[in-house]
Amino acid sequence: MPIPSTILIIGASRGLGHAMAAAFLEKGWTIVGTVREGGRRTLLHDLADEFAGRVEIETVDICAPDQVAALRDRLSGRMFEILFVNAGTTNNPAETIADVTTDEFVRVMVTNALSPMRVIESLEHCVATTGTIGVMSSGQGSVSNNETGMREVYRGSKAALNMFMRSFAARHAGSARAMVLMAPGWVRTELGGPDGRLSIEESVPKLVNVLLSQQGTPGLQYLDYLGRTVPW
Ligand SMILES: NC(=O)c1ccc[n+]([C@@H]2O[C@H](COP(=O)([O-])OP(=O)(O)OC[C@H]3O[C@@H](n4cnc5c(N)ncnc54)[C@H](OP(=O)(O)O)[C@@H]3O)[C@@H](O)[C@H]2O)c1
Repeated sequence: MPIPSTILIIGASRGLGHAMAAAFLEKGWTIVGTVREGGRRTLLHDLADEFAGRVEIETVDICAPDQVAALRDRLSGRMFEILFVNAGTTNNPAETIADVTTDEFVRVMVTNALSPMRVIESLEHCVATTGTIGVMSSGQGSVSNNETGMREVYRGSKAALNMFMRSFAARHAGSARAMVLMAPGWVRTELGGPDGRLSIEESVPKLVNVLLSQQGTPGLQYLDYLGRTVPW
């Protein structure tokens, strides 16, 4: 029996991250998925019951550097085919940069831009040399496509994430790893809200196939759930 491939998904308790875990399990992968501390039962725990022996649950709050460091220590010696950082947040979408409080701005920026990069910097040594590092960005992170405004702070945070990932990729030019910023489409989750264009089922299985299609292709791509390049 071949050894199953393993993906580490950061932020797999619900929404898109949980659906990604389910999709990878359906494809025969094993999962290490993270939830936040507190002992709350999550949808990932249900998957662990359903796919006994193929789901490991870890804990981390990506905004707590001590927890990220502790996760790195606990995972030392492990090797993953894919590291995918899904965790993210939003603020009130109607709040403009003129309205937002400094605390709220910092919360969104730290969660969506700084913390995913901290996780990648801390855990990249656990990714196989020909493996994949993925991050959940958003179409809203595209500077070129922003002709309508709205979701200003969120857009800024994902654009910043994209820029930090480009810097990471530049620092690792010559690496054989695939690096992918994913745009899942507007999906009906707690974050996306009820008006999203897509159901989770319409986005995530395709997104997972796009992510898998990048394996073995070095360099950074910014792709949507249909595999189309998103203009930076
Ligand atoms: N839905 C959309 O339309 C859409 C579109 C573009 C991009 N995205 C991106 O997709 C990702 C997932 O979004 P979603 O729609 O699935 O949202 P969601 O249902 O609100 O889920 C957010 C996930 O992120 C985790 N998370 C948030 N802050 C965290 C932190 N500080 N540390 C660790 N985990 C944290 C949550 O964990 P808890 O359960 O512990 O809170 C949860 O697992 C985000 O990066 C989001 O920006 C979503």
